[in-house]
Amino acid sequence: MSTPKILVFAGSIRTGSLNERLASYVARTLSGLGADVTHISLKDYALPLYDGDLEASDGQPENAKRLHAVFAAHQGIFLAGPEYNASVTPLTKNTLDWVSRVDIGVFRTRAFALGAASEGRLGGYRSLMATRQVLELGCGAFVQPEMVSVAQASKAYDDNGDLAEPGRKTAQRAFQSLIANALRYLP
Ligand SMILES: Cc1cc2nc3c(=O)[nH]c(=O)nc-3n(C[C@H](O)[C@H](O)[C@H](O)COP(=O)(O)O)c2cc1C
Repeated sequence: MSTPKILVFAGSIRTGSLNERLASYVARTLSGLGADVTHISLKDYALPLYDGDLEASDGQPENAKRLHAVFAAHQGIFLAGPEYNASVTPLTKNTLDWVSRVDIGVFRTRAFALGAASEGRLGGYRSLMATRQVLELGCGAFVQPEMVSVAQASKAYDDNGDLAEPGRKTAQRAFQSLIANALRYLP
């Protein structure tokens, strides 16, 4: 079987980010399942807040073009995004907005999977739905139904750093689906 390339990143660059921890777990687990995984931090792709005047005067920032190229080099993308006020964070939205300005077509030719981690009991579920809206309705992406929602996230891992039950089985199903979905986009 061919190996799909899967990109993993968190929608937080905060030191000690719960979503970065989730992204690390996702990247490690997907690698263990045989995917060719790239795990990046948005810290390495700093972008100004989107401003149409800035784009008109300076064009798209180099980091938006770099990130677009990274998206384009993968068949699957896993985004672990925090929830702010029941929605997607500014960092996530701004990042997706800039990449869409480089070429929105990149969203239509790969598989997306979503995760969220929060100390709250809803596990960032509302941010998952908001991110799905941006990707599906806004960008025309395929976003798989299986998601990873980690509630009370600082207590959700076992001593090996693996997601503990009740979330682990659901997460495993999401990872297997992402690999299967990404395979459909292999050249
Ligand atoms: C402006 C703001 C709004 C927030 N709103 C929510 C919320 O609606 N639901 C929730 O579960 N957590 C909310 N939080 C808490 C974040 O989920 C928490 O800070 C989380 O650790 C952020 O993700 P990170 O650890 O990956 O940086 C909010 C945090 C901030 C700063």
